[in-house]
Amino acid sequence: MKQIRTQVGIVGAGPAGLMLGHLLHLAGIDSIIIENRSQDYVIERVRAGVLEQSTVDLMKKSGVGDRLQHEGMSHDGIYINVFGKRRRIDMAALTGRRITVYGQNEVVKDLISARTETGRPLIFEVSDVSVYGLESEQPAIRFTKDEESFEIRCDFIAGCDGFHGICRESIPASQIHIYERVYPFGWLGILANATPSSPELVYSRHSRGFALFSMRSPSVTRLYLQCAPDEDVSQWPDDRIWDELLTRLQSDDGWKPNVGPITQKGVTGMRSFVSEPMRFGRMFLAGDAAHIVPPTGAKGLNLAMADVWRLSRAIQRHYEANSGDLLDRYSQDCLRRVWRAQQFSWWMTSLLHRPDTDNAFDQRRQHAELLYVTSSRAAMTSLAENYVGLPIDETTGED
Ligand code: FAD
Ligand code: DHB
Repeated sequence: MKQIRTQVGIVGAGPAGLMLGHLLHLAGIDSIIIENRSQDYVIERVRAGVLEQSTVDLMKKSGVGDRLQHEGMSHDGIYINVFGKRRRIDMAALTGRRITVYGQNEVVKDLISARTETGRPLIFEVSDVSVYGLESEQPAIRFTKDEESFEIRCDFIAGCDGFHGICRESIPASQIHIYERVYPFGWLGILANATPSSPELVYSRHSRGFALFSMRSPSVTRLYLQCAPDEDVSQWPDDRIWDELLTRLQSDDGWKPNVGPITQKGVTGMRSFVSEPMRFGRMFLAGDAAHIVPPTGAKGLNLAMADVWRLSRAIQRHYEANSGDLLDRYSQDCLRRVWRAQQFSWWMTSLLHRPDTDNAFDQRRQHAELLYVTSSRAAMTSLAENYVGLPIDETTGED
């Protein structure tokens, strides 16, 4: 087995692993990133689109924000369509902060090119990944690449391998606590070559269920429909998708999305999940490896970025000041933000989706809440404050 040595071994080249590698590089710390998929697959995977201001600031400050600055679409507000009546929440006026629409695949592309420029290792298409010696001073990652076996010896392992990765699974069950909720619905998402017909996102609660209008560029619209968690996409020819989207999204002010050729379709289940603590010995979990939120609040990618910002600072402090204090606080500091986002994402999800039971009381209660949230300044401010996100270095509550 070929031995390699580095300071930080990073499993996973999603936004978390790539941003961590980048921040460590800026601090002069060595890392190796390994990824089991191909570079094209990682770039082309269609996922998040909404960046909080703190994520945008982090990308700009760390020198990977040039394209984001030019191509990202800054939005001051969002619309909520309440059973046909479209109401706007002016987030910039209420909070002074805004969101930016920029595809996760663009973020990943920018981070991969920054990594490539540094010449530091980023190895795609590895297999048989496993981690060892997590409680020792020199943990190790083993993997196979082109039929050759490798072992990375490092000071720290960063588990950035997403929800289905191996890092969290490698922690003894007695050492972690899992908090979880699975929702009785999913999202069918599409990309269409159609000019976005609204400059801002539209979240819609229709009697047939939730729908969301978003975008990727001045010529590409991104749309989602509430569906069954195990919905079979093959049952959704393009005409059926457009019928349903137009029904659920159009509002009585005449607004509706533009229709165009569909270029991508997919179904995602919805889950809330937290694994605590986000550390075992010298392995630290970050992003979806440690927590999942339902996508309604647009928080997943932003949480991943906040985690690795914190982890990079903690590792830097270990090397520069020979102090483990930030590493020791990493999990608790991340989890405060994670639980705030969990609460918000759960709330946005229950506010906007059609529940699986047709309880008339719950329907009336949800309608009343939607009217309140789109008319009371206090309620709109609360939604806006959560949606635009906390500054990255701010936590809520006391220790
Ligand atoms: P991932 O992106 O999952 O990256 C993990 C990487 O590890 C992957 O590349 C994977 O291939 C790799 N890997 C897995 N196992 C191994 C292994 N054994 N060895 C090596 N590598 C491995 N978030 C938002 O903030 N805003 C949004 O608007 C939003 N919308 C979303 C819409 C949808 C439809 C979905 C599905 C998600 C959305 N999210 C959103 C969530 C967001 O996409 C995730 O939270 C984000 O991808 C997390 O990044 P990550 O790096 O932690 O994990
Ligand atoms: C997008 C995804 C989300 O989950 C969301 O809440 C808003 C927008 C998007 O993909 O554009």
